[in-house]
Amino acid sequence: MSERQPGFTIWLTGLSGAGKTTIAIALENELKSRDLYIERLDGDTVREGLTRDLGFSKEDRDKNIERVSFVAKLLSRNGVGVIASFISPYREARANVRQQSTNFIEVYVNAPIEVCASRDVKGLYAKAFAGELKGFTGVNDPYEAPENPEITVYTDQETVAESVEKIVTYLETHALIPQLQPA
Ligand code: ADX
Repeated sequence: MSERQPGFTIWLTGLSGAGKTTIAIALENELKSRDLYIERLDGDTVREGLTRDLGFSKEDRDKNIERVSFVAKLLSRNGVGVIASFISPYREARANVRQQSTNFIEVYVNAPIEVCASRDVKGLYAKAFAGELKGFTGVNDPYEAPENPEITVYTDQETVAESVEKIVTYLETHALIPQLQPA
């Protein structure tokens, strides 16, 4: 029987619009093309299902991350590579996920708020700056940046491919995925 792949949890944290989902999808495609078992969990989709009942108070955000953490724990300990993309603004909540999951890798998806706001893919920054949306992360709600992330990607300075490459290289050098054999 071939050796089982070790599980891991790639945890992408950062402001809304920083590029978490874009990187998560590109990373998922790359890893799946290598025949690895991967499951992607994303704030916007998880909040339509598993955590539909939750809003954006600190208490609800903590519950959101706690439930995702439970899923990531089950998957990663059974040899699945989990790619999770959530704002996850609170350090303590992220520390709890780290503690529970197998091979936890925190990736800080770093982009200045001005850049995120200028992208404003969902039009939420405009609403927040206009005072129509209360408690929006980075505008009128906290974001506690990671202090010691395993990886930081700078999405205002790097291409998506470069950010994905950083993560893939980390996984390879830590023997969490096989090195690609030269052709
Ligand atoms: S988290 O804080 O609980 O980790 P999560 O990543 O699941 O957040 O969801 C964030 C997404 O919800 C954002 O990308 C945005 O589309 C939407 N959203 C709606 N209201 C808010 C808000 N007040 N703060 C941040 N994101 C919000």
